[in-house]
Amino acid sequence: MLAIEREGLMENLLEAQNVKKYFPIYDGGVLFKKYRMLKAVDGVSFSVRKGECFGIAGESGSGKTTVAKLILLLEKITEGNILFEGKNLGRLIKQDRSWYRRRVQTIFQDAASSLDPRMRILDIVSEPMEVQPSGTQSKSVIRHRTEEILHLVGLGSATLKKYPHELSGGQKQRVAIARAMILEPSLVILDEPVSALDVSIRAQILNLLTEIQEKQRITYLLIAHDLAMLQNISDQIAVMYLGKIVEMGNTEEVFDRPMHPYTKALFEAVPRPEPGRAKEVPAISGEIGNPIYPPSGCRFHPRCKETVPECRENEPVVRNIGKNHQVACHLLTRR
Ligand SMILES: Nc1ncnc2c1ncn2[C@@H]1O[C@H](COP(=O)(O)OP(=O)(O)OP(=O)(O)O)[C@@H](O)[C@H]1O
Ligand code: SF4
Ligand SMILES: [Mg+2]
Repeated sequence: MLAIEREGLMENLLEAQNVKKYFPIYDGGVLFKKYRMLKAVDGVSFSVRKGECFGIAGESGSGKTTVAKLILLLEKITEGNILFEGKNLGRLIKQDRSWYRRRVQTIFQDAASSLDPRMRILDIVSEPMEVQPSGTQSKSVIRHRTEEILHLVGLGSATLKKYPHELSGGQKQRVAIARAMILEPSLVILDEPVSALDVSIRAQILNLLTEIQEKQRITYLLIAHDLAMLQNISDQIAVMYLGKIVEMGNTEEVFDRPMHPYTKALFEAVPRPEPGRAKEVPAISGEIGNPIYPPSGCRFHPRCKETVPECRENEPVVRNIGKNHQVACHLLTRR
């Protein structure tokens, strides 16, 4: 929770401005093929400040991973801008793209199982250093840095010569973390970083991630279903629903005073368990809806218990309801 202490002093590292990602989906026709647009991310705006952990919550299919992929340049933005240190990602020239790819790393859910089984840990962890455009570093420098980073993630030098199959699930995740951290990135995107791990070791890995963040002053974007984990680790939180951010703000404030009916339902559905131990977000009654044909007005209206007539007609706009708390819901204009 570094960021809260330094609130007010921090500048934005990343800024998303009305970002949209639509996937064309084939909808029939042979000669004149027809496509519909699946609106995976539909106009999200948020800022991540240097040194903080920015959490994203929301049910399956709400667009969380798509946001991560856009930031990682794995998908092309349909509309809107993402700025990193003020630079527009859509306008990066080739050299800037390789600079950016070193500055921004990721640890996905299945990172441990995707380690190349034919490579030794030394080579897996040091690979990002080997492929740096600034020229090859000497073998001794690379080995020294690899040992240093393995030490940081709690693995001894004996691990260097091993292969992934010789390690436990937790050790493999530590290797994936070391690989992501070796180039000292400024932003690390964690997409469900512990959900594939055994429940007994989730808390250890989470503690390791927060320790590294504090030591290295890294900024995290943390995507998780586990609300207790987000509450414990993130400084800011955004709640996504069907491609939109419905509520966002300081984590403590949002958890203490959730205002959007979807956020309230999410929180009520979870019995505040230990961090790292929660199961998937339990389903709120009804389905999340189809992002190809999203509901009119407020996308949450078919499942909302507090609907008012304008909910079906008009889309609610995001409003500030506190110093660091924003909500998109018609009820707020009625109070
Ligand atoms: N490459 C793609 N082509 C078409 N549709 C896609 C593609 N990638 C994602 N989608 C769709 O976009 C929507 C958002 O998906 P996304 O993976 O971002 O959700 P998520 O919030 O990460 O869900 P989960 O919690 O299950 O990981 C879903 O409806 C998904 O099916
Ligand atoms: S805008 Fe209406 S439907 Fe949407 S969350 Fe608010 S009350 Fe519910
Ligand atoms: Mg996802």
